[in-house]
Amino acid sequence: MQTVHTVSDLRVALRPRPDWALVPTMGNLHAGHLGLIARARKENVPVVASIFVNRLQFGPNEDFDRYPRTLQHDAELLAEAGCDLLFAPDEAEMYPQPQTFRVLPDPAIADMLDGAARPGHFEGVATVVMKLFQMTGPRHAVFGKKDYQQLLIIRRMVEQFALPIDIIGLDTVRADDGLALSSRNGYLTPEERAQAPQLQAALRALAEDARLATAPEQIRLLEQQTMARLDQLGWVPDYLTLRRRSDLQTPTALDLHQGAACVVLGAARLGRTRLIDNLEC
Ligand code: PAJ
Repeated sequence: MQTVHTVSDLRVALRPRPDWALVPTMGNLHAGHLGLIARARKENVPVVASIFVNRLQFGPNEDFDRYPRTLQHDAELLAEAGCDLLFAPDEAEMYPQPQTFRVLPDPAIADMLDGAARPGHFEGVATVVMKLFQMTGPRHAVFGKKDYQQLLIIRRMVEQFALPIDIIGLDTVRADDGLALSSRNGYLTPEERAQAPQLQAALRALAEDARLATAPEQIRLLEQQTMARLDQLGWVPDYLTLRRRSDLQTPTALDLHQGAACVVLGAARLGRTRLIDNLEC
């Protein structure tokens, strides 16, 4: 696998082959990321992964500085997984000028849930993903459903800007005890790590209970009860909620009646670590 650090080297390395599949990441790779590489390879085109910890998508009091940077090990994992090219720019390469032109996602999908908890987060994500798309010109790009709202925003961005990129969503890769793999799991103490699957269990319980609900008010009550249970277990829940998959809005009574495709999403803090997860239901 070749590693390049500049856009000009990237373009030279991409040129011999017309179609590529892109897997954007912030590094500190785990089996979830490698699942994206495996999915990308199924398209039978060469795979380019990017590793860039994007300051633009972190809030001022978030974990940008302590976000784990493990480029050497990541490159070994990518090579083993059959990735063909790694693009690992530094900040000066990605943002040679202050990034004053931005991609502003539709507030109707970007200002709720994680966007409410992390103002400006999805603007930072959409902007860097747009740049990565421009730099690599991929035919396909693979994202995890673990970041469900991010995936929806990227799909909408690609539709609305008519980008000729096929967006592929991959199911969340989990540890044996159900915890969604995440670079941030490394922040957890051993006790917190043992407790962490409770978030996924709470989402599963909410999805089960919501199946019987016929009115939005019932859903709201179930959401509050689920958050209260997590709270009692020592978490600080941000949101646990049932939404329509298509636009992440609250399902109406008609949606519930018709069994519209839904997803339960949750975010909660355990000690210093904020974890997110979701389950389609
Ligand atoms: P990062 O958190 O490194 O995640 C990179 C990709 O891996 C995302 O598409 C994410 O959804 C996916 N992913 C993470 N954990 C996963 C799991 N357990 N199973 C399946 N996929 C998983 O998401 C970002 O980086 C950034 O926002 C980025 C898109 C790179 C823009 O900076």
